Amino acid sequence: MFEIAPSILSADFTRLAEEIASVKKGGAKILHVDVMDGHFVPNITIGLPVVKSIRKSTDMTIDTHLMIDEPGRYAVEFVKAGADMVSVHVEADAHLQRTLTAVRDAGAKAGVAINPATPIETLTEALPYADFILLMSVNPGFGGQKFIPTMIDKLRRLKEMIVARGSSALIEIDGGVDADNVSEIAAAGANIAVAGSAVFSHDDPAAAVAGLLEKSSVWV
Ligand code: DX5
Ligand code: ZN
Repeated sequence: MFEIAPSILSADFTRLAEEIASVKKGGAKILHVDVMDGHFVPNITIGLPVVKSIRKSTDMTIDTHLMIDEPGRYAVEFVKAGADMVSVHVEADAHLQRTLTAVRDAGAKAGVAINPATPIETLTEALPYADFILLMSVNPGFGGQKFIPTMIDKLRRLKEMIVARGSSALIEIDGGVDADNVSEIAAAGANIAVAGSAVFSHDDPAAAVAGLLEKSSVWV
């Protein structure tokens, strides 16, 4: 399985419903929603009310990426707002096992997000409680950044670690994914690739999603 998850961070918020319909038409099943608090990352984006509105307007899988400090305070609230997947950063949560378990108990898939310079070894004890790992391939905070090339090797090592530990956690990669690198990303073991600017800065977001899916399909 390989999916493209368009990130609405680069969408036109005044036409959000249309933008969402367009990426769905292109073949996307997962919608990535970046939640930033201005503390964990140097940017502020959107929160619970927007997730609630999106939930009413689409049946796509809603994937909320919480780039916030103390995510355990809010993770279950995002599930209640309609998120199907919730990821929290390993760097931000001192009680990660509790947060992941709470997200699962609330009925959503629980994910651990990890920044580019954080070693994958920090994930080992949380892996049994995670449905997916969100591997950041840029430093979080902004769309439109360049993919950090060494993250391909990190992705391969993460895949090996997951297999070696008998985990069924999926790998989602996030940041700088585009038509030039998506096939290599799929080949290295990612199951889901987030794409923000490569989709919504394109004239035709539906065609952009379809193009990314086609490029990656060589490997699946
Ligand atoms: C970055 C966000 C990403 C971002 C990706 O902090 O987590 O999801 O929207 O955007 P692109 O694909 O433009 O790098
Ligand atoms: Zn994200």
